[in-house]
Amino acid sequence: MEPELATIAPAPSDRVAVPKTVLMCRPDFFTVSYRINPWMHPEHPTSTQTAVAQWETLHAAYLRLGYDVHLVDPIDGLNDMVYAANGGFTLDGTAYGARFTYEQRAPEGPAYMAWLEQAGFEVHVPQHVNEGEGDFLVSGDVILAGHGFRTTLESHDELRSIFGREVVSLRLVDPSFYHLDTAIAILDDENVAYLPKAFDDASRIELERRYPDAVLVSDEDAAVLGLNSFGDGRSMVIASRALGFERDLRARGYETIGVDLSELLLGGGGVKCCTLELRR
Ligand code: ARG
Repeated sequence: MEPELATIAPAPSDRVAVPKTVLMCRPDFFTVSYRINPWMHPEHPTSTQTAVAQWETLHAAYLRLGYDVHLVDPIDGLNDMVYAANGGFTLDGTAYGARFTYEQRAPEGPAYMAWLEQAGFEVHVPQHVNEGEGDFLVSGDVILAGHGFRTTLESHDELRSIFGREVVSLRLVDPSFYHLDTAIAILDDENVAYLPKAFDDASRIELERRYPDAVLVSDEDAAVLGLNSFGDGRSMVIASRALGFERDLRARGYETIGVDLSELLLGGGGVKCCTLELRR
């Protein structure tokens, strides 16, 4: 099957793009052979070739937006290494390494740390289980941190002590939205979009208090991992099937770029999962 080309739907906007530097990993060894989230069905076939072709459209979209895109070499046998967001968390030239929940992904931790080290980051080897930017998102001056399925609350303390920033812990309760980046999208320093039902009551109240003007997405958009998106404050790269989310973003003056990552959705990941932001 031919992958859909990324489509650009320009919206009138005076929003300003912040230059982005990201790390990605080509899905040369992508397949679904085990099940560690509800999206994964090892009994169903997957195509590595389609995954690579779709990933190329995301890579091309980032280049077109002027992002500085770095690549880490994929490792044979690490099916999920394409989901680079889980490879660590970076801020102010410092990296907090990932320590994975499931043994199938454990070797990715050191592989990403080695890459970050050679790229000049001061790397902190994690004491506690955490899945990097899958569960840690920067929103202005604070770090939003998920827990409940993968990343542990203990790692939130570790994060706090390494970066000296305010860390807001948010509890995820819906197994389909098991990483924070499947339940919240960062639109820019002030704005987010999220799926209310993915959080426990206390976390939802905290989100309502901090972001009274947030975009709340529908179940339909969340079900194609619409929230799993990445942008620079002006443009948002999102799942092409998240049509309601696309409309809401455009109404708020963001440019939207839809990409079809349906093959990578079979592993339970989308746009943001394939993207680790590098912050120096
Ligand atoms: N199969 C991978 C896992 O379950 C998907 C990771 C998706 N990544 C993300 N940042 N949400 O770990």
